[in-house]
Amino acid sequence: MKRISLELGERSYPVLVGPGARHELASLLPRGSKKSAVVTQAGVGVEVDTGREQRVFMIGEGEEAKSLSTVEQLCRGFAEFRLTRADVVVGVGGGVVTDVAGFAAAVYHRGVAVVHVATTLLGQVDAAIGGKTGVNLPEGKNLVGAFWQPAGVICDTEVLSTLPPREYKSGLGEMAKYAFLGVADLAELPLEEAVARCVECKARFVSADPHELSDLAGGKGGRVLLNYGHTLAHALETVGHYDLRHGEAVAVGLIFAAHLARRLGRVGDERVGEHQAVVSSYGLASRLPAGVNVGELVDVMGRDKKATGGGLTFVLDGPRGLEVVRSVPVDDVMAALSELQ
Ligand code: GLY
Repeated sequence: MKRISLELGERSYPVLVGPGARHELASLLPRGSKKSAVVTQAGVGVEVDTGREQRVFMIGEGEEAKSLSTVEQLCRGFAEFRLTRADVVVGVGGGVVTDVAGFAAAVYHRGVAVVHVATTLLGQVDAAIGGKTGVNLPEGKNLVGAFWQPAGVICDTEVLSTLPPREYKSGLGEMAKYAFLGVADLAELPLEEAVARCVECKARFVSADPHELSDLAGGKGGRVLLNYGHTLAHALETVGHYDLRHGEAVAVGLIFAAHLARRLGRVGDERVGEHQAVVSSYGLASRLPAGVNVGELVDVMGRDKKATGGGLTFVLDGPRGLEVVRSVPVDDVMAALSELQ
């Protein structure tokens, strides 16, 4: 079992990684907590024992469950359970569960402790770590949310063996980005070690820039870099009619980012080949889905959160490593997309 500390001064918290880590859950809960509200989904199938009075709150499946009405239902359920500010919410599941449970915890009683038990690979290497919580609106994904750091996170690698193969592969797409954020030889590492290295890497970025403000203030190397490969991925997901899971979309997004960086003279063929090798080693596709509407994708990418007035904006590789690049010419973006068709 590995214990990684996400350093945030007095709000620092442990992330436990390893087979059977879920059995350590009770030790991560606030000492004075008497009640625990366990938020999960029917399909998760991972049972936990909080060692406290425990009530399970089921939410729906899929992105539709990431809504304000789910948060209202949860908060009303917490109130009916008489959960107090001294008690704890426990999110058991993938990114949908931890995003919604985290946001409900952030707003219930103006903030109650939350601990996440991440049961998907994607949740373990990304969604459950770092305190981003939120829900979707009809107008867009994750438009309402809060930074609400958990009191602890459990990444039990044992439960990953029961994931549907496609869900697991999607997690590998999110994992692949860490190969370009400083995790060496990622694809060769045993699973537990690979998850732990990704968590350590993410923890460093979150500690340095917990609210993703560094880039907005003109700083370098902030949390925004964790969005490597995500601008195209989010556009593919927003357009929505392609059969792609989040991590699958990120894998294509990484390859696209490498092609775009090459077009801009920031990297050479060898670096593009390294991106291709990592994505292929995980058995992930690096081409755009058939029939993709390139113009529609460019339009959506222009509305990305990172853009903040700077035109088409991407996290791109280059001689100084990853950095945010603004005002990328639309012709280069179109051309890089065409290379992936
Ligand atoms: N998923 C990127 C972040 O948590 O900052």
